Amino acid sequence: MVTLGLIAASLLAACGGPPDTSIPTTPTVELSPQEAAGKRLFSQYCGACHSIVGEAAIVGPAMAGIATRAETRIEGMSAHDYLIESILDPGAYLVPGFDNLMPSTWGTTLTGEEMDAIIAFMLTLK
Ligand code: HEC
Repeated sequence: MVTLGLIAASLLAACGGPPDTSIPTTPTVELSPQEAAGKRLFSQYCGACHSIVGEAAIVGPAMAGIATRAETRIEGMSAHDYLIESILDPGAYLVPGFDNLMPSTWGTTLTGEEMDAIIAFMLTLK
């Protein structure tokens, strides 16, 4: 949590002036080893359908800002729990405008450790 506070503080300092909410971009933050591993796994398994930079959809929605958006998707569900559900059971909630095209086999493809790393990485995409 200390790290998150520092990141938030440095982001605020970097912005200067009113926050620009137009295009969420991936901030260049220092990733922990687990988050960095998650980023590599994400590129390997998820990157073909999900961009992590900018807003362009590929097959699935872009992931810039997902950590913030995830919290708002299902009332009462935390960002962390929403991400887990989205990965293990993608059809449970469909992002408006997208079809149910995401594979639902990640529970067997990925180890628990890999899942945790991917989610830790996604939670850095504020
Ligand atoms: C074959 C393409 C494809 C692959 C590969 C894929 N996804 Fe998706 N994903 C989608 C589509 C399409 C949607 C939108 C429909 C839905 O909500 O399920 C989606 C939705 C999501 C959402 C919800 C996003 C939001 O804005 O609420 C998350 C989170 C997600 N994917 C994570 C992942 C992760 C993590 C991986 C890799 C382990 C992955 N996806 C691999 C196609 C894909």
